[in-house]
Amino acid sequence: MKRYHVTTFGCQMNEHDSERMKGMLESLGYAEAPAAEEADVILFNTCSIREKADSRFIAHLHQAKGLKQRDPERIIGVGGCWAQSVKDEVFARFPFVDVAFGPGQVHKLAEFLTSDSLTAQGFFEFEGFTGHLPGKRARDFQAWVQISAGCNMACSYCIVPSTRGREVSRPLEELVEEVRALAAEGVREVTLLGQNVNSWGRSLRAPAGRSRSFAELLHAIDAIDGIDRIRYTSPHPSDMKEDVIRAHAELPSVCEHIHLPLQAGASRILKAMRRTYTRERYLDRVAMIREHVPDAAITTDIIVGFPGETEQDFAQTLEVCEQVGYDGAFTFVFSPRRGTEANAITEGLVAHEQKVERMQRLVEVVQRRATERAQRFVGRQLDVLVEGTSRTDPSRLRGRSRHNKAVNFSGVASPGEIVPVQISAATSQTLTGELSLLASASRVA
Ligand code: SAH
Ligand code: SF4
Ligand code: F3S
Repeated sequence: MKRYHVTTFGCQMNEHDSERMKGMLESLGYAEAPAAEEADVILFNTCSIREKADSRFIAHLHQAKGLKQRDPERIIGVGGCWAQSVKDEVFARFPFVDVAFGPGQVHKLAEFLTSDSLTAQGFFEFEGFTGHLPGKRARDFQAWVQISAGCNMACSYCIVPSTRGREVSRPLEELVEEVRALAAEGVREVTLLGQNVNSWGRSLRAPAGRSRSFAELLHAIDAIDGIDRIRYTSPHPSDMKEDVIRAHAELPSVCEHIHLPLQAGASRILKAMRRTYTRERYLDRVAMIREHVPDAAITTDIIVGFPGETEQDFAQTLEVCEQVGYDGAFTFVFSPRRGTEANAITEGLVAHEQKVERMQRLVEVVQRRATERAQRFVGRQLDVLVEGTSRTDPSRLRGRSRHNKAVNFSGVASPGEIVPVQISAATSQTLTGELSLLASASRVA
């Protein structure tokens, strides 16, 4: 039996796409190899969001070159956003690559592997959803669901619109069908994926002729028996409507966590980033979340050192962080990407040392506020979906709360169970606790 190995870089959408690659390969009769050295087909699902992502992957690709030299029959495939961004150039730069494909062409991998011609081939159209392919999930009880592909935003720093194409939504009925099938297989938690999830449905038509809305999709999925938790990522603040926020309060399975990417705290920089909202409008969304779902965890993404960012602009980013009190934040140093609008900006570039210094100040505020926020969980009993054993202490268990906090706890439970955990301590990243004595009672309920 032939064997494959997939290495995944990048975001959750790439993780989802890799699961579909694996599912498709298994349906062709391939089995997963534990390491690239043992595989006949070595695949990389790449990311190009920041320069670091590129360099990490290129190092891996050079290792694959060595493996190909040892065994020329091996097939090396490169998929994902980096592949899309360089297209056929990949074959000139890396002649040992056999097949390259973008995020809209994952299905072509099957065509390539079953064809007679094994000369270098590239596939870069935007067509079809990876979500249509058979999948191989990492965990039985959790699943990604691709609700849309592509992005119609034009954030000036971002490579994604060029690597994933224009936004296309999958039909409501198809998604409900997919989640029903997942629930029947034992999935309890779904994470809806899109570059801009809450603009889902705008191009779709409901029977009455109006367009679909993301809130409508949340309602439809919440109604499916067996789905206890719904998450989604990433929403865009401009498309964050009241009906979506209310869904968090009203629908039992929609989790109390909203990832709301800020990017920058100064309206001037947001405008240069083409984020389509101001600082005030963003804070207004946060206020609406706090009003309807007071206990919701709010997390964010922030970019430091965008061209033109002054000390005053950056101070406003810190202010927003102080004011919102995020439960967590992913912080990035601005990285110029080929083909993007921001890549062409030559004035007001922020010096590297300045970026590093600002990043340190930002991380201090983010961590301090996240630690403070996390204290509200101490003394409470939270439902935790058990994922496995603790990474640092195998005698303890690890799972996630509905707020998406990692929880390490003592007690006996199996992966996939939702158990009540009494929280005794909290840091910015994790909660600690023990399985509540009421566990067995509520598990029966
Ligand atoms: N579609 C999602 C995710 C985009 S990528 C969204 O819009 O939220 C994830 C994060 O990477 C972005 O939110 C942004 O903070 C960061 N990012 C994107 N391009 C970047 C760049 N060129 N330099 C630094 N960070 C970047
Ligand atoms: Fe990139 Fe902006 Fe689209 Fe997110 S919304 S993928 S940051 S262009
Ligand atoms: Fe990377 Fe593409 Fe995701 S650039 S972050 S893999 S959408």
